[in-house]
Amino acid sequence: MKAWGVLWIVLGLLLWPEPETASPLPLVMDSIIQALAELEQNVLVTEANVTASARILLSAKNSSAHSSLHQHLLLKAPSHITAEPDPHSLRPELQALLAEVAQHDVRDGQEYGVVLAPDGSTVAVEPLLVGLEAGLQGHSAANLPSDCLAIPCDTGDTLTNVGATWPVLMDAFTNASSPDVGTTLPNDKAKAPTTVGRLLAVALAGDLGLTFLHRSQTGSPPGLGTEGCWDQLSAPRVFTLLDPTASSLTMAFLNGALDGALLGDHLSRIPRPHPPLSHLLREYYGAGVNGDPAFRSNFRRQNGAALISAPALAQQVWEAFVLLQTLETGHGQLQNTSQERLAQVATFATKEFTEAFLGCPAIHPRCRWEAAPYRGHPTPLQLPLGFLYVHHTYVPAPPCTTFRSCAADMRSMQRFHQDVRRWDDIGYSFVVGSDGYVYQGRGWHWVGAHTRGHNSRGFGVAFVGNYTGSLPSEAALNTVRDVLPSCAIRAGLLRPDYKVLGHRQLVHTDCPGNALFNLLRTWPHFTVVEN
Ligand SMILES: *[C@@H]1O[C@H](CO)[C@@H](O)[C@H](O)[C@H]1NC(C)=O
Ligand SMILES: *[C@@H]1O[C@H](CO)[C@@H](O)[C@H](O)[C@H]1NC(C)=O
Ligand SMILES: *[C@@H]1O[C@H](CO)[C@@H](O)[C@H](O)[C@H]1NC(C)=O
Ligand SMILES: *[C@@H]1O[C@H](CO)[C@@H](O)[C@H](O)[C@H]1NC(C)=O
Ligand SMILES: *[C@@H]1O[C@H](CO)[C@@H](O)[C@H](O)[C@H]1NC(C)=O
Repeated sequence: MKAWGVLWIVLGLLLWPEPETASPLPLVMDSIIQALAELEQNVLVTEANVTASARILLSAKNSSAHSSLHQHLLLKAPSHITAEPDPHSLRPELQALLAEVAQHDVRDGQEYGVVLAPDGSTVAVEPLLVGLEAGLQGHSAANLPSDCLAIPCDTGDTLTNVGATWPVLMDAFTNASSPDVGTTLPNDKAKAPTTVGRLLAVALAGDLGLTFLHRSQTGSPPGLGTEGCWDQLSAPRVFTLLDPTASSLTMAFLNGALDGALLGDHLSRIPRPHPPLSHLLREYYGAGVNGDPAFRSNFRRQNGAALISAPALAQQVWEAFVLLQTLETGHGQLQNTSQERLAQVATFATKEFTEAFLGCPAIHPRCRWEAAPYRGHPTPLQLPLGFLYVHHTYVPAPPCTTFRSCAADMRSMQRFHQDVRRWDDIGYSFVVGSDGYVYQGRGWHWVGAHTRGHNSRGFGVAFVGNYTGSLPSEAALNTVRDVLPSCAIRAGLLRPDYKVLGHRQLVHTDCPGNALFNLLRTWPHFTVVEN
């Protein structure tokens, strides 16, 4: 109950008037964890009472489509909780922080309700909390009173009350080649555990579906996973999106929703009593690459791909639509769209989510590693390219395993390339750390300086480290061998018949190191160069 109560407070604090005196805290995950920890310490005694009021506040909350779904699927407090919350249970600055971040929003090119996590990713707090909440309820589903949810607690089948069946429109999946797509039939309930189903519905499916539905009418694709830049990384306050026309399905939203689903799934599986949420989040975000392989923010996409089956998600999105049709009677677009059409939108939205987000590497944009500006005018590449040239950085020689050290390596390489080599910018197109992330160098669109004489024909991708006598981490190798190229092919940036070459095949150098080059020879797209 304790963890649950804390969440109610956090969600409920949305409506507290903002204290005037507090100086704003940096928008970092540690601030959120600090607030949760303080709530968990101070609110222990009165927690049950506080919960109820949070619920009341929440039900009075400005109702948008997704919040009606949240309220329907999980925002119902146990009926024995009745009293008022104590507004003084939190220091004013933490209270202000929670009020600031508890609602995700994208407005005028800026994103609100997001924080910077220790792994360098930006995370929307609202879908994260909603996922946690669903996970807490998922475990106790069997014990909740029968009116706990409008859907049956023990079946997880949101369709039972809606009385609809999933239309047979699964062509997109039966043709799909991605390993995590098409392995499950849409009606195979055994593959969609109760808790995961509800988790996805509240944290992700509704927003995913509605955004694609809206954009399908206007003709412009939602631009899944738009990144942004913080005003400063040391004490971030303002997050500006790189694409001001982005939909609300930003990278931070997708990260938060996925973290919510993964953490909620974890919570629903572990025995009671639950650990404090502050501990859980500290472990998930703080342990980095040394954390539990199945439970760490650095590898959320890999773990998400293992948790989420595309057909099950498509069905969830569609079920969310059908449910919203009954909840949102004033939503003209939902009311006027046939279920077959909604199923098509759900299938398409899910395909984009699994292929263009889960199936792609996590790439930190330049501003995240505090890149210096490009010097001069970059030359555009003629896409798609036919080559991927593999490098190691050699110096820095130790693999980087944290955001902080990888970002510092990027800055030092850029300084060296700009100030010593006199290049316009860091030479590589992309650089791969051992921290679970790819770092954008020149990126997909500009000619690099990595493979003399061949820079306009291929992307130059470097592993941070010296791989003369040892190999990069398996995750980093997998990124360059499989994930990055398949994602680039899908986006039309790389030709499907692309060739992989080591730097040394074209230029007199030992790069990418003997150990790495010997492994490269075994890769599917590796190509021998005839001299
Ligand atoms: C909190 O609720 C309990 C019953 O759940 C009640 O006994 C207690 O008096 C309440 N405390 C406050 C401060 O209202
Ligand atoms: C809900 O939010 C919108 C936009 O933020 C605002 O215009 C409207 O007045 C709000 N409604 C209520 C009931 O608070
Ligand atoms: C799937 O494959 C069939 C036959 O190969 C084709 O007719 C259909 O258009 C494909 N569907 C999609 C969505 O690609
Ligand atoms: C939905 O259909 C009704 C009746 O045909 C119409 O009045 C309304 O404008 C439509 N709404 C939208 C969003 O298309
Ligand atoms: C790179 O590794 C090789 C073999 O382990 C070693 O001999 C060499 O000194 C290393 N170079 C640097 C710069 O660390």
